[in-house]
Formats: sequence, C-alpha cells, structure tokens
Amino acid sequence: MAGLKEEINLDNLPKHIAVIMDGNGRWAKMKGKLRTFGHESGVKAVRETVETCAELGVSYLTLYAFSTENWNRPKFEINALMSLLVSTIASETKTLMKNNIRLQTIGDTLTLPSKCQRELKEAIDATAGNTRMTLVLALSYSSRWEITKAMKNMASDIQSGALKEEEITESKISQYLDTSGMPDPELLIRTSGEHRISNFLLWQISYAELFFTDVLWPDFRKEHLYEAILSYQGRERRFGKTSEQISA
Ligand code: IPE
Ligand code: IPE
Ligand code: MG
Repeated sequence: MAGLKEEINLDNLPKHIAVIMDGNGRWAKMKGKLRTFGHESGVKAVRETVETCAELGVSYLTLYAFSTENWNRPKFEINALMSLLVSTIASETKTLMKNNIRLQTIGDTLTLPSKCQRELKEAIDATAGNTRMTLVLALSYSSRWEITKAMKNMASDIQSGALKEEEITESKISQYLDTSGMPDPELLIRTSGEHRISNFLLWQISYAELFFTDVLWPDFRKEHLYEAILSYQGRERRFGKTSEQISA
C-alpha cells in the first residue's frame, strides 16, 4: 500500500474525522489473550492515528473511546479501561505538547473515576493553547445522552428567558451539544467490520461520509487512514442536490 499518502489531495481533506475504534476484544481473543490486552494494544493505533491526522493537516479528530453503554461491561474490563485511560493521558501529554495538539473531551465525564477526571483536566489545561489540531476523546459519551442534556438545558433557558422559541435554529441546537464550536465530521470511520453507529454523534454526522473497514482497531495503521481519506475524496457529496448541479 506504499504511495497512498501521495494520492491524497491535501486541499480536500476532511476538517473533522471521527472514529469508532472497535474490535479490541476480538483482536485479543484471536490471540488467545484477555480482552484487556486488546485495549492496551489499541493505544498504538490511537497514537498513530493522532499523529497522522496532525501531519496531514486535519483540524479535528474525535475518537470514541468509551460509550455510555460500555458501563454495562464487566467491572474488571471497565477498571482496566479506566486505568489505561489514566496512564495513557499521563504518558502522552508530552507528545501532545510537542505536536501542538489540544485535547478536549465530550461526554458525561463527571461519571469517570476522580483520578481520570484529574488526569484529563491536567492534560486539557496544559494543551489548551495548542493550535495544530484538536483531539476530542468521547468518554462516557452517547448521542442520546448528549441530546437529552441539550434539551434539558434549552428548556431551562427558555424558562429563565435566556432563550426564546424563535431563536431555536439548527445552529442554536448545535451550540447546546458537547461538540459546540466544532465543525461536523465529514468522515466517520468504524473498524472491526460492524456496520452501525452505536449512539455516536447522531446529530453531527447527518451528512458525514461513512467508511467501514474489517481491520480490528489494534491493527489500524496510517495506510488504513489514508485509504479512508482517499475513499472520502472519491465520493460526490451532493447534500440533496443532483450530480449535475454539483459539477456545474
Ligand atoms: C472497542 O473494542 C473498545 C471499546 C468499546 C472500549 P471492543 O472492546 O468493543 O472490542 P470487540 O468489539 O468486543 O471486539
Ligand atoms: C462502540 O463500540 C463504542 C466504542 C468504540 C467506544 P461497542 O463495541 O461498544 O459497540 P457495540 O456494542 O458493538 O454496538
Ligand atoms: Mg466492540
């Protein structure tokens, strides 16, 4: 797959790429290892994806790291994921600084263990001034949770008079979501051969191009990302118009 990078049109990059990092458990199982070994092995793919997106000039990268529904997994696995989060954030902040990458989160992060919250806050504060790319971690995130919270906040702003009904527009609703201020993802990638969205960014991906690959997340490398971007660049994004209107 050498040479894929050269085929990418840098003037037509997605500004925002979102990734559902899936398949860690199956990857580990295939090797006769514990699922948690798969999560640990997924960190390398995270590092490579972050660095490649920054190198190319992508502005936002959102990684689905832990869903609201993932709280229903066995306690042992949840604990392992939380410890991995703490140790990875702690060890990667230096690299984020070196690469001028800002860290942010979306999701119900107050439900994370306090050690995770502290580590995250430190990394978010330390990288707040970085400008090359924003890395967004979706943690304890689900789209329906986010939309429910947004609706509650809008209702209370209506009640207090801070928001008027006639001010409710699509862009106003976007401002009430955790992704407020971020562009919508143009490209959504899911690994591991599953063809579903699993409660991820439902509002924001209205017009995203979807890219599915059978590669399991721990095996995901630069070349797979190039492949996804090239697929994106080969599509005609019509936004409801006709092909003739687009080419005119
Ligand atoms: C994705 O891999 C990581 C998380 C959801 C935290 P999985 O753990 O879902 O791996 P599979 O899908 O069971 O193989
Ligand atoms: C989606 O993966 C969540 C993350 C990647 C964090 P899951 O493995 O939890 O999704 P389902 O349960 O197969 O839909
Ligand atoms: Mg999975």
